[in-house]
Amino acid sequence: MGQTLVVLKRLSSGLASGVAGVFKTVGLFFVDFALFLFNLLTPDRKKGAVIPKGCPGYGGKWPEYVPPQAGDSRCSCPALNALANHGILPHNGRDISFKDLNTVVRQSYNFSPTFCKFVPSYAANMLSRDYNTDFFDLADLDAHNCIEHDASLCRLDVHEEPDQGKIAHELVERLLTRGTGPNGNLTKKDLSRLLGERRVEAKRANPKYSQAFIHKMFGSSNSSTLLTIFGGQIDDIRTILTEERIPDGWEPRIRHRMGLTILEFNNTVLPVELGVKEEVDGSINVAGRERYDAVQKK
Ligand code: HEM
Repeated sequence: MGQTLVVLKRLSSGLASGVAGVFKTVGLFFVDFALFLFNLLTPDRKKGAVIPKGCPGYGGKWPEYVPPQAGDSRCSCPALNALANHGILPHNGRDISFKDLNTVVRQSYNFSPTFCKFVPSYAANMLSRDYNTDFFDLADLDAHNCIEHDASLCRLDVHEEPDQGKIAHELVERLLTRGTGPNGNLTKKDLSRLLGERRVEAKRANPKYSQAFIHKMFGSSNSSTLLTIFGGQIDDIRTILTEERIPDGWEPRIRHRMGLTILEFNNTVLPVELGVKEEVDGSINVAGRERYDAVQKK
């Protein structure tokens, strides 16, 4: 095949897959909107009946929790690690299909089918794997600056702790004691404050610190699951973050029939992200300047 033909074929297939990707994403958001309306128009599931019959966790009965053993694969996501610790995902955290991830997250945490398709597809894409046919180990999700990023609330930065499956207990303790809602439960303002603090401290301490806009959005999205799926309830959050275990009798706080849609989720994510005052009051720049001065002095 001539070189020109190779170039033309690559350009046209790149263009075709780009256009198909845009259509798929737009289509998914339309479906998400329809599910959002469906949720508005239909009554929520009754308390105690969020997890579908026959699925693990139905009636609050979660399969036995077994902490990770040597050689098991774990990642920076406490919610996925918990699924593996209960054997809902393979306990060794390996060879998970993206499609199974979709199903299991939907059944266990009551996110909408759109969210459960969107995030695993994004993960497959970032790993250059095929959503329909490929597999991953949990630790694969820790590819730095794909979804995993600096200044998380439950993990040290990868520069300091390369094993992102390791719980950063000091950070988690901080999060657990900062709730200002009733019983110390977490609120949107608490999360904005915690995220801002973490971004400043990570920028000051980590010579490799980076945080693109998309990673800020991942940071606020991941942590917003604590307010939505876990309802900000500090006792449940303690169990999930310190042991990566699903509390006995627990069920998702979102009881909509079609789960938590992307649209509704953003009603929490956006205020959390937009409420991070450190992004506008200059503290992040000061932290950057301090790091620069410290490096200069060396
Ligand atoms: C659908 C598939 C999912 C994928 C691929 C995924 C992936 C990730 C990754 C890579 C991180 C680390 C981000 C960081 O560096 O801070 C993360 C964090 C997190 N995820 Fe997930 N996740 C998924 C589903 C969920 C679900 C369903 C929940 C809650 C029910 C959840 C809750 C969290 C929480 C609380 C964090 C910690 C945030 C922090 O430390 O700041 N995730 N997730």
